[in-house]
Amino acid sequence: MNDLEKVIDGIDLGLPAPFAEPERQYYFIKKGREYVTARSKELGRDLTCSIQTFGCQMNVRDSEKLAGILEQMGYVRTESEHADFIIYNTCTVRENANRKVYGHLGLMKHLKEKNPEMKIALCGCMMQEQHVVTTISKSYRFVDMVFGTHNVYKLAEIFVSRIESGSMVIDIWKDAKEVVEDLPAVREFPFKSGVNIMFGCNNFCTYCIVPYVRGRERSRNPEDIIAECERLADDGVVEIMLLGQNVNSYGKNLEHPITFAELLRRVCAIEKIQRVRFMTSHPKDLSDELIDVIAENQKICRHLHLPVQSGSTKILNAMNRRYTKESYLALVDRIRAKVPEISLTTDIIVGFPGETEEDFLETMDVVEKVQYDTAFTFIYSKRTGTPAAGMENGSTKEEIQDRYNRLLRRVQEISDVKTIAIKGQTQPVLVEGFDEKGDGLLTGRLSNNILVHFPGCAEMVGKILNVKLVECKGFYYMGELAE
Ligand code: SAH
Ligand code: SF4
Ligand code: F3S
Repeated sequence: MNDLEKVIDGIDLGLPAPFAEPERQYYFIKKGREYVTARSKELGRDLTCSIQTFGCQMNVRDSEKLAGILEQMGYVRTESEHADFIIYNTCTVRENANRKVYGHLGLMKHLKEKNPEMKIALCGCMMQEQHVVTTISKSYRFVDMVFGTHNVYKLAEIFVSRIESGSMVIDIWKDAKEVVEDLPAVREFPFKSGVNIMFGCNNFCTYCIVPYVRGRERSRNPEDIIAECERLADDGVVEIMLLGQNVNSYGKNLEHPITFAELLRRVCAIEKIQRVRFMTSHPKDLSDELIDVIAENQKICRHLHLPVQSGSTKILNAMNRRYTKESYLALVDRIRAKVPEISLTTDIIVGFPGETEEDFLETMDVVEKVQYDTAFTFIYSKRTGTPAAGMENGSTKEEIQDRYNRLLRRVQEISDVKTIAIKGQTQPVLVEGFDEKGDGLLTGRLSNNILVHFPGCAEMVGKILNVKLVECKGFYYMGELAE
């Protein structure tokens, strides 16, 4: 039994639920555990759970927290959607993310008819939209629980309330009340972990729904972050990914303000942590101090995701990005001057309202000048409630698709050239496990995030080893262990 299990075990359910967090949740976890134990006994089998995660690293991390709570309640995890408890952790950043969830729900209805034990929960960003919750509560009555992004930590309480009330529970908060620390979490990998350093976003880029569904920017205290990283390190984690929608504005609103660069320094000072990554950097807030910290510190991975969104200053302005094409390019120059080996990746939106062929060519020009290692390209998707939803789009669907195709082609050509340029080098690789093809090869990541497959054995998983990059296969490498 670990420490947390002991605490939960010692709770007296004869007393009323405490008000303070996280003790309140421990209480409901224990209640949930009683239910799960009793049902398992009656059914003569384990109860299984499955979490389907859509969207970004924030959701991935939230799902690990959900998994931690479910595991403490006694559910056994399975990948399959044939589970006794299924959670969809949703994303709504673009319309197609949204559509996927409704697709899955259709299937779930049938599965639930066959398994009366089955519980279905919907959570995450989509649930923070009023019209979605209205649709679910009207047309998807078989859903058991609906909650949002601010109360993920309350899963056990929501579950108990569903069991006790016998009807659908909907619990959505407009914004976060507090940052609750010290709840269980299960890691997807034993040797690497995401760590939230902040929640929400204050930037209100005009196309983006994230500030509306994730609330205002809140930074965690550096002490709590460092303590979590130290705990993870003691537990075998060697790579940490610091997570926030805009890590460069970390700490500005804390009672004792601290810069992101300073936080990075402190994380790197933890001896057992060997690699540090972070996501995402907003170009407007990337400081020279941060560039220096990256340059000085070899633990920080040589990879920077720096979303440009558009190369046209006019469009950047309409997007409320608060930088220009020139200032972005100057920033890239400053970064490359101090950290020449860094791999740069980006996000680009094509077809933002008002984008002309000329604006698009400015984007192509930035792609040409920066030479990104990879770029994630998106066609603009209108999100209800954002300022851009009310803007006119002068371009046709066909024009936008044509721009998108041209951009994608060029981005891939450059990416291929970039990837092949390191052929023959020997680089450290964090070994993540055997690859999915089942050919017995190990798979791992370079500091710059490129994947490498190479022969090796199970004992190497979780270690950082030197691997020679022998053959470039497009976006990944085949390699062999170096002495
Ligand atoms: N906080 C991060 C991005 C989070 S969303 C940042 O500021 O960089 C991830 C990406 O989705 C964005 O960078 C953007 O390129 C894309 N995106 C966001 N809203 C979009 C929309 N309405 N249509 C198309 N792409 C969008
Ligand atoms: Fe969205 Fe902009 Fe915030 Fe990123 S910085 S999450 S794109 S509003
Ligand atoms: Fe999607 Fe929410 Fe992330 S909308 S991209 S899961 S913050």
